[in-house]
Amino acid sequence: MSVLEVRGLSKEFGAGGVLHRARLHAVDDVSFSLRPGRITALAGESGSGKSTVARLIARLYDPTAGKVLFGGHVVGRRRRDALRYRSQVQLIFQDPFGSLNPAKTVRHHLARPLRIHGLASRRDVRARVEELLETVGLVPPAAIADKYPHELSGGQRQRVAIARALAVEPRVVVADEPISMLDVSIRVGILNLMRDLKERGIAFLYVTHDLASARYVADDILVMYAGQVVEQGPVDQVLAGPLHPYTRLLIESVPDGHGGLAPIELRRGAAAAAVDPAPGCRFVDRCPLAIGVCRERTPALVEARPGQAARCHVTAPAPTNREDIHAQPAA
Ligand SMILES: Nc1ncnc2c1ncn2[C@@H]1O[C@H](COP(=O)(O)OP(=O)(O)OP(=O)(O)O)[C@@H](O)[C@H]1O
Ligand code: SF4
Ligand SMILES: [Mg+2]
Repeated sequence: MSVLEVRGLSKEFGAGGVLHRARLHAVDDVSFSLRPGRITALAGESGSGKSTVARLIARLYDPTAGKVLFGGHVVGRRRRDALRYRSQVQLIFQDPFGSLNPAKTVRHHLARPLRIHGLASRRDVRARVEELLETVGLVPPAAIADKYPHELSGGQRQRVAIARALAVEPRVVVADEPISMLDVSIRVGILNLMRDLKERGIAFLYVTHDLASARYVADDILVMYAGQVVEQGPVDQVLAGPLHPYTRLLIESVPDGHGGLAPIELRRGAAAAAVDPAPGCRFVDRCPLAIGVCRERTPALVEARPGQAARCHVTAPAPTNREDIHAQPAA
């Protein structure tokens, strides 16, 4: 049973510059659901639309089309609904320093949401703050609580940001590249913390351009290219047997395929393919498997293996198209 579901979510921006009338389809018809106690990785190269999905879920942007359902209901526009939703769906950013107030102590950052949402009485705030710090592995909690952000390491600051998100007892946490600004040596600690927290029933969306960390921490994966989800399924299954040529390319560009945390190479192209996209597959100019139909028809997301779906005319053809596609000559 999902706790949060996005259906047909789309977000367009003006493409800017000389193409001032052009529209960037930053997120285009994206659908997926998040389940309690599971981590879903949202992977893809720079500009593929990952953060825009995260922001749409956090309601920092209004979608151009599509909807977000929480607990099976469309999230309403009334202030009370919005406030409740914001506490249930928390966003963690890449830069923990930027999201903390340098003039305030750790205690202030954690006590504030507890008070605003009425989650602890005056007497209990202190104990609850320390409990949260222990949950995220910051000990001794009483000493940490009195520190200012600049007195902490990057990893400790990210743990404070996570503790602050947990203060409001969220059911969904969206973490947008939460380890990419941290030293490599402390990244695994944050990933392990996410794995511990999912055991409490939180549904995580883990945004990353790093497939190795997705493999390490996630249960499921969504791969984005040029605003669209091009492949989705259980992470082990997808990474061991990718359907989409783009997923294959991502896996091949991970230098260390043995669970290390080497980042994938970032490439240009994903964002450009999302500007006023023509019908057809957005990956066609980079695809070694392209055939005639790839420039004519946009592939749908088709479940070609149990639980694993891809947008590809060749490797995941729609059942009705299978025969005529294979009959076509290669382009
Ligand atoms: N507020 C905005 N206005 C205009 N364009 C935007 C806006 N936010 C994002 N974009 C564009 O939408 C596309 C997707 O951006 P997004 O930040 O979602 O990508 P991303 O996958 O998170 O990339 P990265 O890995 O670099 O963080 C990019 O081309 C970006 O320039
Ligand atoms: S639809 Fe065609 S161009 Fe797109 S990924 Fe599949 S084979 Fe390649
Ligand atoms: Mg991003």
